[in-house]
Amino acid sequence: MPDPILTVTDLNVRFATPEGEVRAVTDVSFSVHAGETLGVVGESGSGKTQIFLAVMGLLASNGRAAGSARFRGQELLGLRRTELNRVRGGDMAMVFQDPMTSLNPYLRVSRQMTEVLVVHKGMSEADARKRAVAMLERVHIPDARRRFDLYPHEFSGGMRQRVMIAMALLCQPDLLIADEPTTALDVTVQAQILDLLAEIRRDLGTAVVLITHDFGVIAGLADRVMVMYGGRIAEEGPVLDMFDRPCHPYTRGLLASMPRGDAAAGGELAAIKGQPPNLQRLPPGCPFAPRCPLVIERCRLAMPPLDPLGANRRAACYRAGP
Ligand SMILES: Nc1ncnc2c1ncn2[C@@H]1O[C@H](COP(=O)(O)OP(=O)(O)O)[C@@H](O)[C@H]1O
Ligand SMILES: [Mg+2]
Repeated sequence: MPDPILTVTDLNVRFATPEGEVRAVTDVSFSVHAGETLGVVGESGSGKTQIFLAVMGLLASNGRAAGSARFRGQELLGLRRTELNRVRGGDMAMVFQDPMTSLNPYLRVSRQMTEVLVVHKGMSEADARKRAVAMLERVHIPDARRRFDLYPHEFSGGMRQRVMIAMALLCQPDLLIADEPTTALDVTVQAQILDLLAEIRRDLGTAVVLITHDFGVIAGLADRVMVMYGGRIAEEGPVLDMFDRPCHPYTRGLLASMPRGDAAAGGELAAIKGQPPNLQRLPPGCPFAPRCPLVIERCRLAMPPLDPLGANRRAACYRAGP
């Protein structure tokens, strides 16, 4: 495997709130290799987004990140804003579930796209227009030359997500972080956006981090999957292995609650009983213990380490096993 481009070590993210400290991310370590697609899966509130906001230096003002996040060897945590801006949107770009959070509703798409190139790459206005239109064509926006001068709200949801992806790709990043990019879209459009991500990765060699609460989204796209629970990595491994032999009881629960097309599933979701942990009052042991069908006393006393389980697999569970 090629060298990692992003290496995160012992990342912790905490938020100060009037009700106490929220431990959003605890002791998270992983890496992303050039050209690979890493899926990050977990229930809502499990810390997926905050990991990457911390890496991008975009945490809310009441948040603090500790640990290390190195991009091509350069430490990102604690970097000055001007230096971070160079990495952000240049080498590393992020797209979000709702494109309207990153698109300015009052500016034409053309203006927003060319600005990135003029500022980041020092391109002339004319060259920037050419590159931007080509990128819209690249993400399959029909009639791109005409639509280039529209405002964001004049695009459909799926087309807006394509515009966001085009913007993220403008500076040819080595790493594209896509945070629930299809969650707000209907199933058909969702599949088209996932196809587009697969195509980008194949044709441009861009490494992709795909964040989702839906294991199904990961299946056809990711090489490796990292399962998050209560701000920690529960389990990590190659995607097919994980589907075949989930080792952590939480991963098994997630897979069992995936909608299946076959009659045996009967359209029912085998949801995991219980509630996700309160991040202001995390237990001393495994955060999944209160919901775990395999729980033993030890699980409640001390957090199990994220130990290797054979080749390329890790799981944080005393009872892990196929
Ligand atoms: N600014 C904030 N202040 C306090 N808590 C926050 C803040 N931002 C996020 N959180 C909390 O951090 C936890 C993890 O959030 P997040 O990473 O967004 O979850 P998800 O896995 O759904 O992406 C959540 O419980 C969320 O409420
Ligand atoms: Mg999120």
